[in-house]
Amino acid sequence: MIPQPFLVRREHRARTIESDEVRTHIDPGLGREAYVLDRSDSGVDLTAGSEAGLFYGLRTLDQLPPDAHVHIEDAPRFAWRGVLLDVARHFMPVPDLLRFLDLLAFHKLNVLHLHLTDDQGWRIEVPGRPRLTSVGAWRSESMRGSRIHNLYDGRPHGGFYTTGELREIVAYAADRHITVVPEIDMPGHMQAAIAAYPELGNGFTGPVRTAWGISTHVLNLEPATLDFCREVLDHVCDIFPSPLIGIGGDECPADEWPGGRELQVAFTAAMAAHLASRGRRVYGWDEILAGGAPPGAVIAAWRGEEPAAVAIRAGHQVVACPDVKLYLDYRQSDDPGEPTPVGTLLTLEDVYAYEPPSSPLVLGCQANLWTEHMESLRRVEYMAFPRLCAFAEVVWSRTERDFADFSARLPAHLARLDAMGVNYRPLTGPRPSDGRPDAPGNPRTLASRLAELHEMTADLR
Ligand code: ACM
Repeated sequence: MIPQPFLVRREHRARTIESDEVRTHIDPGLGREAYVLDRSDSGVDLTAGSEAGLFYGLRTLDQLPPDAHVHIEDAPRFAWRGVLLDVARHFMPVPDLLRFLDLLAFHKLNVLHLHLTDDQGWRIEVPGRPRLTSVGAWRSESMRGSRIHNLYDGRPHGGFYTTGELREIVAYAADRHITVVPEIDMPGHMQAAIAAYPELGNGFTGPVRTAWGISTHVLNLEPATLDFCREVLDHVCDIFPSPLIGIGGDECPADEWPGGRELQVAFTAAMAAHLASRGRRVYGWDEILAGGAPPGAVIAAWRGEEPAAVAIRAGHQVVACPDVKLYLDYRQSDDPGEPTPVGTLLTLEDVYAYEPPSSPLVLGCQANLWTEHMESLRRVEYMAFPRLCAFAEVVWSRTERDFADFSARLPAHLARLDAMGVNYRPLTGPRPSDGRPDAPGNPRTLASRLAELHEMTADLR
């Protein structure tokens, strides 16, 4: 035996690639993301509507057994195949974020909704506003487990992305045909910014929030504060080419405002007008429907399934991400060994069965990864996979789906994830080391959550 080097020899790689030489062609007559893939003894022909289609054809080729002869005509069902990653609750270092983008691309997903700011941390450097990152990016400790337990870890946490790093993330995503849609959550979920610049708030002078849950310390809506928001959005537009810019708008308590919740409508309109002046549109949570969302705003419909219908009736384009169907921070089983079980039970089969409302206004769907209970990429991978594999099929494939058939195909795909070292949740359940007995959860029943959502969305009825 001749010992082999740890890394595959270059000549071996070259030969492998050569044996599966791909002849690529662009045919603008095909849809932008569509492709036709033929593999026979004479090699591989891949024709696509654009570079994106070629990219997806190659991802399919990745999955084919070496000797398979195929003719595949394929195109995605939805233009928006998204995942939200919350880097505010737990900061994710750049290399981990790039790896996460690789995993999205491998699943033909094409939008990363990057939740950059929240009460518990501000993650984007903004020129001229140094305290946003010197103060707002750091908290003294983090809550451990669900908020009902009121436990803390006593350990500082933080981090932020420089402008250069964000440009690298955007470019890395673009190379993989992923659009990064940034979100600056406003006018609520702003305690980290207010901790940095108390003049943005309503008298609050405390630190970045250490507890999970929603802060009542929100932006004041004075002209200087609106100017601050415009300045931040200008910087965001300079970095992110996305036609849609997230301005959040969810869960904004009005306790500190003299005029009540109606003030948010004017705030959202002002931000929409500013983004329009930059050629961009608002992407906002469904709370911005209350009192009327700005024309052209795209709605991330999350509070159960009703808001999507409301948005469609109002003529808005919608990204469906109902929490009880697509929140991947929710527990994957009722096994007591699941890490920090929160929300309602959301199994692999549940995600696979999800269907958004049928309407031309539905751009697609989005699975949301809120990271209160995921302090590392390893934890994110556990919660994301294999449910994100099921989600990928929901948004890529046609309406008819058969879970038994998916389940039969999944093990071969999990072997690919094994090869990439992905820490997916085993189909047999959590391993002992996946549990977080030190970070207890708060599992909910579907009935109680649906009742709560019905109450929360009263403002839309
Ligand atoms: C959300 O889950 N607050 C959008």
